[in-house]
Formats: sequence, structure tokens, C-alpha cells
Amino acid sequence: MIRRRFFILTARNLYSISWQIITDPDLVALVRRAYSQGVVMDTWMHGEWQAEITREAQRRLEDMATGLASQVSDAQTTWPIYPLSTLYLAHLFQAVLTSMALFTVHRQSDTNQVTESYVEQALATLTQFASEESWGLHAVVRVFHVIWSFEDLNALRYFRRLPRAEFLSGVSHRPWVQELLADQLSLYLRMGVVKESLTGKGEMLRLTPRGHHVLAEIERVLEESGELAWRANQQRWDVFRTMDYDTVFNVVGPDSEQATRDFLDHLPIKPGMQVLEVGAGTGRVCVDLGLCERVLPGGQVVAVEPSAAMGAHLQDKCERRAISNVQIVKARAEDLPFADQQFDLTMAVAVLHFTDVDAAVKEMARVTKPGGRVAALVPPPNMEVREIPMVALWLRPLSELAEEFGLSFGERNGLPPGRLENAFHQASLQDVTRWPVPVTVTAEDYRAFFTFFVKGAAFFQHTLARLPYHERVHLLQNLEKRGEQIASQTQPAEKRHIYYGEAIWGRVPLP
Ligand SMILES: C[S@@+](CC[C@H](N)C(=O)[O-])C[C@H]1O[C@@H](n2cnc3c(N)ncnc32)[C@H](O)[C@@H]1O
Repeated sequence: MIRRRFFILTARNLYSISWQIITDPDLVALVRRAYSQGVVMDTWMHGEWQAEITREAQRRLEDMATGLASQVSDAQTTWPIYPLSTLYLAHLFQAVLTSMALFTVHRQSDTNQVTESYVEQALATLTQFASEESWGLHAVVRVFHVIWSFEDLNALRYFRRLPRAEFLSGVSHRPWVQELLADQLSLYLRMGVVKESLTGKGEMLRLTPRGHHVLAEIERVLEESGELAWRANQQRWDVFRTMDYDTVFNVVGPDSEQATRDFLDHLPIKPGMQVLEVGAGTGRVCVDLGLCERVLPGGQVVAVEPSAAMGAHLQDKCERRAISNVQIVKARAEDLPFADQQFDLTMAVAVLHFTDVDAAVKEMARVTKPGGRVAALVPPPNMEVREIPMVALWLRPLSELAEEFGLSFGERNGLPPGRLENAFHQASLQDVTRWPVPVTVTAEDYRAFFTFFVKGAAFFQHTLARLPYHERVHLLQNLEKRGEQIASQTQPAEKRHIYYGEAIWGRVPLP
């Protein structure tokens, strides 16, 4: 066991400790392991951080956090480790456990109500994660200390200067914290990454050149580990979870219904078939467009959907229409809970661009019978919403921000051209064929467009994910207002554009 090293913490060695932690070659993989195992932090949320925590759950959270913090403080620790106070560690564990519990609540029940059982579940996940890490609980501290530092330093870079009191309360960049950010600030000041100065407006904080350097390194870690993209995905998830999907989808894509029907007509769907629809959402395809009827008599559609809200909507539709041949399964495309070679046909509409496409197509191929087809319809590869003239004008502030952040891809969405076909080949599918599917996208109803493409479908999520919390909220509010004004100044022809989605299929080889 490595013994705890006592040493005098000068600003210089404090800085070198933090630099070693941030540049540790394993940090990228560690961050990835954490979020992919459900050890997640609250920074991704839109407004859902206002958890409703029952009194028992709150008490349990506090006890757990104190217990974990003292385990970390008491442990014979390896060096280098930040000299963080037990109180700071308790806050950190409490924040992590609350986020994890809330994250599970969202996915399992679509409410904000954190009860004791969710808190216990969070503790079990966190303990399991720590038990597999050579750093043990310190691994958790490392990951979240880095993520918190990103939030703090990024806010200072974004605002250039922040009043000390505003920073300490976290009001504009971490409104979910319940305690003052005094421990963090003292650390940043001692490390020389933040500088304090007295101005006519009171005490102000700003990043030092060293602070910019540290932030760039942290940003690299979060970028390479996929954490920033992961947050962007969570924001998208939250929007899709709460919007009236069916209405919005048909308003922004008035001919997408026909395009999907044409796609279904193309597929060899026959009565009696077992069809798997991956990412079935609210049942637009399997119920509204009649997929489940096409397999009658005798056939069944298994509808896989990871979002509880979407799944509940679909369940409700099936009940209202007395449909009995749709079975809903809560799962993800990348990890399908089915035996090999179970389905005659496996398909996904407007889903695969949200997934780890190689893993998803491989799974879809695995569960399909030899000779059966795997088929997908995806939005236009590298779709650029600014091809709609009104949208280019309207969203200019967002485009400029993306550019400022060096995110030239800010307005592109969908898979890169050829990516899906490649995944089909990787999954050893045969006779892979793809064909273009024209779809009109319109911003005539600017509110629907805004909900779907800006807040939801991820065109700007990478840019939005880099904004301090309140900036994100304000920017979205201002953009929505701007939409009304621009809409009134533009002609209908400037509000729409025809894009080309992509349909594809492949056949599972016969033995
Ligand atoms: C744009 S909607 C499409 C829904 C439906 N297929 C349709 O055409 O209306 C995307 C759906 O994919 C689901 N989804 C997102 N990530 C997924 C994943 N990894 N595996 C399976 N489905 C996923 C979302 O929950 C959402 O219901």
C-alpha cells in the first residue's frame, strides 16, 4: 500500500498536482467509464435539477455522502490527490448521488421524485464502480472534481469576469449547488488559475493565463472521453421526453409521414411476421402508419424504446386502439435483450443517428433470422438546417457562438455520408442497398421548429452544452423571441427546404 504523503502545499506543488491529475493518461478512459456506468453529474440538465427529494431520501443521501467522504479522507491515499476537505468531499458525493438518483428517476419513471430506493440504487452503482477502479472512491472524486472545475473555469472564461459573490453562489453557472463554492474558489486561487481583483464594481474574479491553459486541457479530456457529447445527448433526451412528439414531428416535416409509408411499402412485410422496431418512440410507425396491421393475421411487432415517456405514450395508443400485437420492451439498440435470430425483419426509423451506430446495427443483425432483413431510415446525412434561408438568418447568434467556440460542425446533424452503409457492411449484412428519400423540412411554425431542431434534435447541443447554465436558458429564450420577428419578415418559400434522407437495407447471410 502506498503511504499518505504529507507535504507543504505551496501554490506551486498544488498546481503541479492538478496538472498531473488532468494530464494523467488514464483520465479520459476513467471519465468515459464513469458516465457509461451511470456515475453521472448534474451539469447536463436543462432545468430538471430541481429534484423533489423525499425527506427520508434526503436524510439517507446526507448520511451516505458523509460516510463516503470520511472513507476517502481516512484512506491511505495514493499521491497525487487534491487536498480536499471532508466537507467538500461530502458535498461532492451528495451531488453525485443526487444526480445519479435523478438520472435513474428520469429514465425509469419520468418524474423528478427521488425516493429512498433510487438513492440506494445510486449508492449501489457508485460502490460497484469504485470497487472496479484501482483508485477506488478516489476515482469518483477525480472525475467529478475535473467536471466541476470545467463548469467553474468555463463560466469564468465565458463571462470574462464574474463578481466574487455571484461565482460563490453559483447562481449563473451551477444553480443546483446548495452550498457556497468557497472550497473550490480557494483552491483555484491557490493554484493560480483564478485571480481576484477589487474593481469599482466590487471584488471580481477572472481566469489567469494559467487558468486558460488548465481549462483547455480539461476541455480536451471531456471532449476525448465523449463526456461533452454525452451531455449534449442528455439535453436532447430531456427535450424529446417532454415535447408533444407526434404533433411537432408532422409540423416540421409535413411529408415525412408519406416518406415513411413509402419506406414501409418497400419492405417485404408479410402477415405472420415477427418484426422488431428499434426506437419505436410514440408508435408513429408501428401504430399510426400501420406497421402492426401489416403483419396481421398472426404477426407481431416488438417495439423497443428506451424512453419511459415515449414508451408510455405508445402503450396508451395501443390500449386506446385495442391493439394487441405490439409488445413494448424498454431497451437500447446497442444492447437488445433478445436471443439470436429471432425476428423476420428488424427496422429503425429516425433512430440510428442517435445511437452508437456500429453497435446498434450489429445487434439488429444478430437478432434477425438468416435471410431476414435489417432496414433503416435516417435523416439526411450531415443535414444543415441553415439551408432554410429563414433559419440561417434566425439562428445567426447561435452560429456565431459555435464559431467562437471553434465548433464548425455546430449546425450539422445526422450521420456522416456513408457511415450507415459502412455499419451495415461491418455487421456482415449482404446485398446492402440504399436509396434517397426526399423530405421537406419547414420552419413555418417557428415554435415547432425551434422545439424540434434547436432545443431537441441536437443541431446546436454541442454549442449549448458549453454555455454556463443561465446563459443557455437566456439564449434559448431570446432566440425563440427572435424567431417570431424573423418569421414575420420572411416569405413562405424562404421557410422550407427539401432534404434527402437515407433508406437502407441489408440481408442477414444464410448459413
Ligand atoms: C426521432 S425519434 C423516432 C421515433 C420513431 N421511430 C418515429 O419514427 O417516430 C427517436 C427515438 O429513438 C429513441 N432512441 C434514442 N436513443 C436510442 C437508442 N440508443 N436505442 C434505441 N432507441 C433510441 C428515442 O427515445 C426516440 O424515441
